[in-house]
Amino acid sequence: MQQDGIYFGPKDKPGTAFCVLFLQANSDSSTAELAGALAQLWQLYEKLKQGLVPDLAGITVPAGELTVLFGYGLNVFKRTDLAFPAPRALRDYGAFRSANTAGGGPLLPGSGLSYAPYISKNKCSEDMVVQFIGNSELAVNRALVETWKFLEDTARETGRAAPVSIAAFFKGFQRDDGRSWIDFHDGVSNLKSEEREGVISIKPSNDPQEAWLDGGTYMAYMRIAVDIAAWRSIIPSKQEEIVGRAKLSGCPLVSASDLGGAVAVAGCPFTGTTQIGDLNNENFRETPVQVDARISQSHVQRANHHQQPLDDPSSARIYRQGFEFLEATEQAPGFRLGLNFVSFQDTPQRLNRILTQPSWLGGTNFGGAENGQNTVPGMSSLLAVIGAGMFLVPPRESDGSFPGAKLFGR
Ligand code: HEM
Repeated sequence: MQQDGIYFGPKDKPGTAFCVLFLQANSDSSTAELAGALAQLWQLYEKLKQGLVPDLAGITVPAGELTVLFGYGLNVFKRTDLAFPAPRALRDYGAFRSANTAGGGPLLPGSGLSYAPYISKNKCSEDMVVQFIGNSELAVNRALVETWKFLEDTARETGRAAPVSIAAFFKGFQRDDGRSWIDFHDGVSNLKSEEREGVISIKPSNDPQEAWLDGGTYMAYMRIAVDIAAWRSIIPSKQEEIVGRAKLSGCPLVSASDLGGAVAVAGCPFTGTTQIGDLNNENFRETPVQVDARISQSHVQRANHHQQPLDDPSSARIYRQGFEFLEATEQAPGFRLGLNFVSFQDTPQRLNRILTQPSWLGGTNFGGAENGQNTVPGMSSLLAVIGAGMFLVPPRESDGSFPGAKLFGR
């Protein structure tokens, strides 16, 4: 059974506030000490979900529908005394490249996505990820601060560094307009609820060393900054061609030309409606299979080749659950914005395929024609990666232990 925090069921809706925390294991701590700290953290989070805060004995506070998810990155598997080796899929497809020490550098061989020039260290490739989602900013902020309090107390009580430390955290929020910072609709086409489990759940393998993974999933995380000034300098009809959807209505496109602009799927939006999310537009949400050569290069067409069956990794379908962000910067315009890209899949190979294969997103930064990456100003660096990581998300433990306890022989 999947952990909480993956909103893949029918009518499941993620909370409005998101925070991911990257934990680094202390190399001086033994594996038993690490497992002990994770068990205690899990207990702490179970209490927070009930509105119980350690420093407020006897008091209950609003819990904000907090969910907590644990994931493990390749780094943790460098320990030689774990109960199982790194899962093969994580070993083969679970590592992003490091950022260049001077900043920037490609995310993966074959991908047009790069680290931002101001990023010289990827802080998201640590041993562990903890994802907090809640219905209030406070719920996720509190979970983060209570984590720090616990680590601080542990260090004071033992007189040495706690078994894990906080390497980085990032925040995000849900939008209620169904759109993204680039103004286009997002999340319109994102697997029907009945298709999601087949896409995300790790299937039983013949390898007994991997049996503990069954029913878990892999979480991909990329914090991606969007160059909004560059995007706004592209005329709307060109933006539509690059995304593959009409800007105002969200209707999927079938063709585009310099003379006539973009043409949406016939009948969309339904007469009397204006947007894809309105009633009677349900049949138009999926992107069409038959499109012209220009639209076949768009972001949505590159990211989904309509291959069946979906539970076969070669379909490369993924379940996206992103949260946007806005943060202050010292440089003009004083802010940076973008997407906390989160996807769940039964193997990291799915995402790797989308990001690196030439007819998929491949050499493009976001989408559109590959030569457009150079001819459309700003297009080759529209998106820039701030951090990225891939994590095994083990299934929930039926006895209430922390997810992944089996890895530590518990
Ligand atoms: C900041 C970065 C990104 C932005 C602003 C963005 C925006 C969008 C938009 C506007 C859509 C169309 C709405 C929809 O069909 O749901 C979309 C669809 C999609 N995007 Fe992205 N995207 C970003 C990064 C990525 C990346 C890195 C991937 C890599 C896997 C990706 C994969 C997808 C997929 C699979 C779809 C659905 C295609 C379909 O089935 O129709 N996106 N994105």
